[in-house]
Amino acid sequence: MSYNGTMERTLSSSLPALRSELKARRKAASPFSRTQSENRAVQFLSASSLFRHSRYVAAYISHNNEFPTGKLLDLIQRYDKPLFLPVLEDGGEPRLRFIQYSQNTHLKKNRFGIPEPRQGTILPAHRLDLVVTPLLGFDHQGNRLGMGGGYYDRTFAFLNKSRRIKHPFLLGLAFDAQQVDALEAQPWDVPLDGILTESGLHYFERN
Ligand SMILES: Nc1ncnc2c1ncn2[C@@H]1O[C@H](COP(=O)(O)OP(=O)(O)OP(=O)(O)O)[C@@H](O)[C@H]1O
Ligand SMILES: [Mg+2]
Repeated sequence: MSYNGTMERTLSSSLPALRSELKARRKAASPFSRTQSENRAVQFLSASSLFRHSRYVAAYISHNNEFPTGKLLDLIQRYDKPLFLPVLEDGGEPRLRFIQYSQNTHLKKNRFGIPEPRQGTILPAHRLDLVVTPLLGFDHQGNRLGMGGGYYDRTFAFLNKSRRIKHPFLLGLAFDAQQVDALEAQPWDVPLDGILTESGLHYFERN
């Protein structure tokens, strides 16, 4: 899994330029290839022991050219795994809260237009087994570039405190085209444990 982009351009880009380049890459996929990618990613995940051994799973409702998640959400529900969706908590310390989602959960759009459950069982982030995250970019070491809100980083900051804390498993979901050669990790960035794309499920080594 590698993207043959130009290394110079990626490494010398300012963060805003890199973000807009990655948004453009994410947008470039045709509707047909998006559906194909979605089907393939779901097949890889459903065949994995990571998925089979995860009980409490969080994922997201895709919007704005993110990797589509409709079939992933169906898969999680088909296996009767409790499914949680992120809800933005915009207090002094913006972070995510995870609320259980089922077929009849009422969803309401947040200020970014993303549908969120407003009522339901809340699960503390550390009790989740598997968290599927959207992203703009990732590299071969599991560094993740999000949309710049710091929501996932703040919510899962506890994972950076000790290498012994291995729960939940953070799985990025993306198109292969979102891979870049190297992302400069900031001290607060929480790295991914794995990445799922249309070409497979890849685990990152922790050093
Ligand atoms: N644990 C933290 N404590 C305090 N501030 C944080 C923490 N994590 C991130 N931030 C702040 O959030 C801002 C955005 O972080 P960053 O650019 O890494 O977002 P991101 O990873 O793209 O977003 P997201 O986590 O929502 O996907 C930064 O200015 C950073 O200072
Ligand atoms: Mg970050």
